[in-house]
Amino acid sequence: MTRKFITFEGGEGTGKSTQARLLADYLIQQGHKVVLTREPGGSPGAEIIRDLLVSGAIDRWTPISEALMMYAARADHWQNLIQPELAKGTWVICDRFADSSMAYQGYGRGVDLKFLQQLYKMVIGDKQPDRTFVLDINPEIGLQRSFERLNASGKNVSEGRFEAMDLDFHRRLRNGFLEIARMNPDRCIVIDATKSLQLIHQKIVSFLDEKSS
Ligand code: TYD
Repeated sequence: MTRKFITFEGGEGTGKSTQARLLADYLIQQGHKVVLTREPGGSPGAEIIRDLLVSGAIDRWTPISEALMMYAARADHWQNLIQPELAKGTWVICDRFADSSMAYQGYGRGVDLKFLQQLYKMVIGDKQPDRTFVLDINPEIGLQRSFERLNASGKNVSEGRFEAMDLDFHRRLRNGFLEIARMNPDRCIVIDATKSLQLIHQKIVSFLDEKSS
């Protein structure tokens, strides 16, 4: 298999972190070297920036500050983890990546999409994920799932900043992800996140190497 940089994207409560983990386990069982990581965060420096981003009041950061901080974290993660691991031939499975900045800060919070594309060019360059799975769900269902999970883990106060944004915001970012997938049909696969865990996993495995269209 040639596709080694795999990203998972989607709104809140889509089960994408679970699917990222299932895929990593599957690849390890197949004998591959795999790194499972996440954004914002994934490297020590980026995890410090993550804490500033996911907690606190909704209006803590302006959209533009938020976008720059996401990219500050991404630059560190890219330089110190993703790029060196890919260079070694390791599979890198990333729970969220740049499409999240486009959807959340761009479509969701109104940051200029071209500006975000420029940031991508400057920080990452021409490299794109080899495959991106966009887990799609109606945000009313997704948010419900997400709040249940945050409450169960006791993280509803410490990590719930984006979940607390209004439903309109979550609808905009869902549309944003679908638009991104439409514009990148060779890279992105949209998956119905209401299906069972096992069914979604099978679909993801079947689409690892396949052409999306
Ligand atoms: P996380 O707890 O990882 O949420 P989830 O389980 O939904 O992935 O928190 C990350 C939050 O950061 C999530 O709400 C999406 C948001 N985010 C952005 O707004 N822009 C970005 O570029 C990234 C990577 C994440």
